[in-house]
Amino acid sequence: MKTTAAIAVLAAAGAHAAPQPAGATATQARPSYTFSAMTSVRYATPNPRTSPVTTYMPSASMSAILPSKLVTTTWKKGVDASDWNNPYGQAEWNRRWAPFMPNISISTFSISTTVAPTPIPSASLILPPDSGFQYGTLESNMTFPSDFIFGVSDSAGQIEGALQDEGRTPSVLDYLNFAPGSESNYVADWNYYLYKQDIARIAAMGVPYYYLTISWSRILPFGAKGTPVNKEGIDHYNDVINTCLEYGVKPIVAMVHADEPYEFVMGGGDVPDAYFSLNSGTANTTFVDSFVNYARILMGHYGDRVPIWITVNEPFYESGNLDGAYNMLEANAQIYHMYKDLGGKGMVSYKNADNFGVPLNPNNQSDVAAANRFQEYLLGIYSNPIFLGEDLPESVTSTLTNQSKKLTKEQLARYKGTADFYAIDPYSTTFVTQPPGGIDACANDPSNPLWPMCVVPTLIDDNNWEIGFYSASNVYYTPTYFRSFMNWMWDTYKPSGIMVSEFGYPAWDEAEAPLANQRQDLTRSLYYISYLTEVLNCIHKDGVNIIGALAWSALDDWEFSTYAQHFGLQAVNRTTMERTYKRSFFDFVGFFQAHGASA
Ligand SMILES: *[C@@H]1O[C@H](CO)[C@@H](O)[C@H](O)[C@H]1NC(C)=O
Ligand SMILES: *[C@@H]1O[C@H](CO)[C@@H](O)[C@H](O)[C@H]1NC(C)=O
Ligand SMILES: *[C@@H]1O[C@H](CO)[C@@H](O)[C@H](O)[C@H]1NC(C)=O
Ligand SMILES: *[C@@H]1O[C@H](CO)[C@@H](O)[C@H](O)[C@H]1NC(C)=O
Ligand SMILES: *[C@@H]1O[C@H](CO)[C@@H](O)[C@H](O)[C@H]1NC(C)=O
Ligand SMILES: *[C@@H]1O[C@H](CO)[C@@H](O)[C@H](O)[C@H]1NC(C)=O
Repeated sequence: MKTTAAIAVLAAAGAHAAPQPAGATATQARPSYTFSAMTSVRYATPNPRTSPVTTYMPSASMSAILPSKLVTTTWKKGVDASDWNNPYGQAEWNRRWAPFMPNISISTFSISTTVAPTPIPSASLILPPDSGFQYGTLESNMTFPSDFIFGVSDSAGQIEGALQDEGRTPSVLDYLNFAPGSESNYVADWNYYLYKQDIARIAAMGVPYYYLTISWSRILPFGAKGTPVNKEGIDHYNDVINTCLEYGVKPIVAMVHADEPYEFVMGGGDVPDAYFSLNSGTANTTFVDSFVNYARILMGHYGDRVPIWITVNEPFYESGNLDGAYNMLEANAQIYHMYKDLGGKGMVSYKNADNFGVPLNPNNQSDVAAANRFQEYLLGIYSNPIFLGEDLPESVTSTLTNQSKKLTKEQLARYKGTADFYAIDPYSTTFVTQPPGGIDACANDPSNPLWPMCVVPTLIDDNNWEIGFYSASNVYYTPTYFRSFMNWMWDTYKPSGIMVSEFGYPAWDEAEAPLANQRQDLTRSLYYISYLTEVLNCIHKDGVNIIGALAWSALDDWEFSTYAQHFGLQAVNRTTMERTYKRSFFDFVGFFQAHGASA
């Protein structure tokens, strides 16, 4: 029999075993190895469902803020119309979409009504095995303050899909569908209908804050002041915000996140040939009044329940020239003062652009000048007036001479302090050095491809090492520079607090991996653990008041033309829309819970 033969083979193998060490006898043999369990079933701690209800704006202010004759209406996709006498009728609504139709890949998902949430199965909340990883050492008393704002984020244009449903018109973001080879956001994560489940999933993980954004062209399909409000859009976000509160999740609400209405670039019906070609509409002469009107409608409907408002995400990228930037500064200030004048008790800010520039050689003054110039462009255009009450940086105004105008004393006084905290998206770091021939020569030569910023970002240091571990986008794993970035902003703009309003890591090649591998996303966990360790170092060792940290992103989403860059703490099956928690979600939340913060 086979069994006997097998035993014979084992016996023969034993005969060749190594000799026992001197002194050892058969009776002193070591006990045989026993396995112990390395994992145990432990679950994520969900949010308490009854968070105290705070009112952030008096109801009298909310009704006072809304236009006296608020006209609401609804529009439908796929309806032929010829009501051209109505400037905001169905025919005009159809005309907004017409240029997109031949160029945008249209698809849908099988469900097109709001899906009721179901309880999160406990099996999906079991903690992953411990990675054993820690970054540096933290004394046990280096904890987060109890009111630390931690959460996850995503933006409407990147997760909602349902682009033409319930009255929405196109936004400038939808232009990215036109780029050759781009994937469409027509479905994205279908969050427009699945938001209840998405919020339930965030709450089940014990996350107290959720950064979400409202699509302007859902609220005001014709964008501008005086145009009718879309009732279905108002009702939708009302329910999104109420669902958050019902689950004990506090909403941080952004008004614009790269998705200004198409209306502001329509300019006679022409479709711009590239994204940002008309500065996302921010340079439009109707932009400021329209933005303030939109903010008024949002605050008038949701102001009581929103603790933190973000006027605009990364305006440096959204307004491609100074005309747009001046408009953004003005709109931000008007919205800020409107809110405070009406007795708003929440916080208002805008989000600064990402990435820190460090001198390639910190001992070389030209490199230091180049790094400072990099920050002056990315951050200073907004932060100088808003945090310091000063004009735009000289490096900007003396280069963009045709676009610059001196901000008046009145403007500077009105802009100063129109952000309650410094919001920054510090994903990554880049080295910066000066251009060939120097900064000054470049700044005087608008034909130089590096003009107007006139610095050279580079990723390889003088010793031939790349700055950090690469990802599937422009993010490099660079925790060693995080602390100096926070200190740089703290020293330069002197805010009362800093919020890390986005950070995240699109793991290399994750989109190619099977789901089981995607879930074991160790590099993303390392990113969060190391960056959050540095947050605690900033707070306790440097006295930098960091008030919050929001992970980008809650879900794998549409990253501006592609689904291949996975930033998500959850995977999304592109066919079934099923969401799956990744280990980084557990490690991100676990870090806060292990260091004194909780829902
Ligand atoms: C949109 O599609 C039309 C018709 O196919 C084409 O002529 C036009 O060039 C496209 N526009 C862009 C910006 O790709
Ligand atoms: C933590 O404790 C150490 C002594 O063990 C002390 O030096 C340090 O100041 C404490 N830090 C905080 C933030 O309390
Ligand atoms: C500016 O915005 C208005 C809507 O407020 C729009 O009618 C106009 O076409 C836009 N101008 C340009 C140049 O796109
Ligand atoms: C600084 O770096 C630049 C190149 O960016 C180089 O031309 C210059 O000689 C360096 N200066 C010193 C003092 O090393
Ligand atoms: C400023 O405008 C003038 C006239 O339009 C043009 O010749 C010049 O190149 C512009 N300068 C810059 C720095 O853009
Ligand atoms: C998505 O779901 C479908 C249907 O269950 C499955 O066949 C497919 O493998 C899933 N995709 C991934 C990446 O897991």
